[in-house]
Amino acid sequence: MTEAALATSTRPGMGDGAGTSMTAGAPPRSTTCLTTPQATLPPMSKRLKVLSIVGTRPNLMKIAPIAALLERRPEDFEHVLVHTGQHYDYEMSQIFFQELQITEPDHYLGVGSGSHSQQIARTMTGLEPVLLEAQPDVVLVPGDVNSTLAAALAASKLLIPVGHVEAGLRSFDRTMPEETNRLLTDAVSDLLFIHSPEARENLIREGASEDAIHDVGNTMIDTLVAMQARIAEAEPVSADGFEPGSYLVVTLHRPALVDGPKLAEAVAQLTSLSEHMPVVFPVHPRTRAAMEAHGLAVSGDRIRIVDPVGYIEFLGLVSRARAVLTDSGGIQEETTFLNVPCFTLRDNTERPVTVTLGSNVLLGLAPERIAEIPDALAARGQLATVPPRWDGRAADRVVDVLTNAELPTWTPALA
Ligand code: UD1
Ligand code: UDP
Repeated sequence: MTEAALATSTRPGMGDGAGTSMTAGAPPRSTTCLTTPQATLPPMSKRLKVLSIVGTRPNLMKIAPIAALLERRPEDFEHVLVHTGQHYDYEMSQIFFQELQITEPDHYLGVGSGSHSQQIARTMTGLEPVLLEAQPDVVLVPGDVNSTLAAALAASKLLIPVGHVEAGLRSFDRTMPEETNRLLTDAVSDLLFIHSPEARENLIREGASEDAIHDVGNTMIDTLVAMQARIAEAEPVSADGFEPGSYLVVTLHRPALVDGPKLAEAVAQLTSLSEHMPVVFPVHPRTRAAMEAHGLAVSGDRIRIVDPVGYIEFLGLVSRARAVLTDSGGIQEETTFLNVPCFTLRDNTERPVTVTLGSNVLLGLAPERIAEIPDALAARGQLATVPPRWDGRAADRVVDVLTNAELPTWTPALA
């Protein structure tokens, strides 16, 4: 389905997102905030209404295990899922709902592609009436994409408590669009769910309250743990004919790399490297568009450019790869968990634990260094360690925190 078609569609069983009527009489939240001690009440015995927002591919792996746990306990939780529609191609969104068995979203906002301001504005105006109608007790926002920030802002403006899953990550590089999203989302979040030690330090340095920080672990790794048997059985078709353990898996999509001249150099380097090791490159739509715009092509049967692949196929590829070259955030973590050598084509990472404990090496934003990969692999000695609490139980800890959180209640008297 095209972006334009989705922008105007409502799927069966979904709410009408941006078209949801605003309930004029809906009681506003009390003006209290989650971290204001005098405003809190003891844990409630009523069902907790949790509204989660997803919009892009990586959001889905992060929310899937939380959604599954909440939906398994209908006596305790009501879960509402909103998809902003920032990613809309089948292989960037719907395929993960099927593979990870995520329940269809209740609301689809049809935000689509556009400038940062357009995406954020469309998400906020689409989400506001949904929030007013649903009146959730808490809103969960995973990750660091435009949908994450927009949803956090919309909820925060309505004084609805916000829980940020993957809080505290910092690249300290404001040219990276996600860095602004991370900083601002954390600034308005009441529950800060972290999965690495430096996240706590970053948040405390920025003035977050210790009480708001919850070291739950990595929900993206929960998904990997849950899917491991199916990944082990997978026979990744995009590597057909390549020996398992011999090939390089590549993903590149950061604007700093793909929206400029460095992409052509990276493609040329990968073509040369394929003489040493076969290359499988599932291409992100941003990258595909840039390659087409600049007439970039690869040649040779040892380098294979394919469309983005599903989760099982992709993790099947990664777990059988000799190494991975990426600029993705999530893939730095998944390779660390799987102890597959990872080379990150960026100057920095918001996930330093993947370098200090894990299998990740920062190559820099320097495509010429792709040529060093075979030697680096030959010299590689140290095995990766899995960071604490990347154990498949992070979503349980998120749900425990939600159960025990002292959330402010609606105060209709103030309406
Ligand atoms: C977004 C996130 C980035 C995240 C990445 C995960 C922001 C600022 N960026 O980047 O942090 O790492 O998702 O993949 O939120 N497109 C399609 N089909 C789709 C989606 C996108 O063709 O389903 C194309 C469009 O040409 C679009 C471009 O990809 O303009 C970029 O999409 P966008 O969502 O703006 O950013 P990403 O690069 O995907
Ligand atoms: N992924 C996938 N298919 C692909 C490329 C990535 O299923 O073709 C998965 C990957 O395993 C990880 C997530 O998508 O779970 C990462 O998404 P992405 O790299 O787009 O975003 P980032 O993590 O950089 O924000």
